[in-house]
Amino acid sequence: MMRGVRVDGVPWRTIWLDGDAVAAIDQRRLPGELAVVRLRTAEEAAAAIRDMAVRGAPLIGVTAAFGLALALAREATPAALDRASALLRATRPTAVNLAWALDEVRDALANVSPSGWADAAMARARALADADVDTCRRIGEHGLDVLLDVVRRAGRGDRVRVLTHCNAGWLAAVDWGTALAPVYLAHERGLAVEVWVSETRPRNQGALTAWELGKAGVPHTVVADNAAGHLVQRGLADIVLVGADRVTATGDVANKIGTYLKALSARAHGVPFYVAAPASTIDFRLRDGAGVPIEERDAREVVELGGVPLFPPGTPVKNWAFDVTPAALVTGLVTERGVCAASAEGIARLFPERG
Ligand code: MRU
Repeated sequence: MMRGVRVDGVPWRTIWLDGDAVAAIDQRRLPGELAVVRLRTAEEAAAAIRDMAVRGAPLIGVTAAFGLALALAREATPAALDRASALLRATRPTAVNLAWALDEVRDALANVSPSGWADAAMARARALADADVDTCRRIGEHGLDVLLDVVRRAGRGDRVRVLTHCNAGWLAAVDWGTALAPVYLAHERGLAVEVWVSETRPRNQGALTAWELGKAGVPHTVVADNAAGHLVQRGLADIVLVGADRVTATGDVANKIGTYLKALSARAHGVPFYVAAPASTIDFRLRDGAGVPIEERDAREVVELGGVPLFPPGTPVKNWAFDVTPAALVTGLVTERGVCAASAEGIARLFPERG
């Protein structure tokens, strides 16, 4: 049984402790170079999240947890705790895993005196990282059942063609990933799984997906974002499977900009559209997708490519990083507890204690 995703045969996690520092794969350097960034302070952790050295909802959360622990290792006072929490919380607004992970660390300090905060915070951050691996692996197993069901219905042997968007693979988590975890398990079990990788402008996270699938030997093909409607219309995808940054308590899904268009084309052509996400991505207090804060990023991501201008100087730009797919377009949510309908009832059935 596979123990995690490997790069050229070597097991990696996206984030780990390295002496007094936290080390993480620097995703700004991929796919060209597998480089590591070292984080020693909450400020460095915040910058890594903001600049997307680390990215993907689960990994953003774990990095923030480590960032808070790093802050407390320097100054274990209520003021430092509040300062670092506020700094980290403000880095990226859409992925709810960020606030969730910070709250987890703060909860771990509740019955500890400040002299023990640094150790308690680091212990909780490490536990969150370990738990994320387990959670994603479970999402993989439940998602594999979904893929097997799609294969059975398609009746074309053991072949399944998955369209995904952005990067919801192991790079977006600590290991395994969310939407790609079932793909890795299917590949390992000998299913002929093939992945359509959408480019994901403007940040091109599709390059990360292509990189990790390539390293794992999973057949894949990259398409421009605008090709997704065409390929779904042509019957070339058996399932659309994506991750999420925030799922409301009623099943609306915020994910990388462009996800909504894929959901619309899937619905138009009768292709199942599944969202894989852990409970830490569910905002149990939010009922309406319209309430999800949508991050807007620097215009340069759209009008420049590698520093080279693509548009006339001063062209007005709107750079939304995420969109919301209404629950009605989502065939099902794949969580660590199983698969449920994207509805208040479906989510409450799997997570009754959060009701
Ligand atoms: O802006 P990013 O790259 O952090 O956006 C990532 C996504 O939208 C992912 O699909 C989502 O975080 C799920 S990752 C398991």
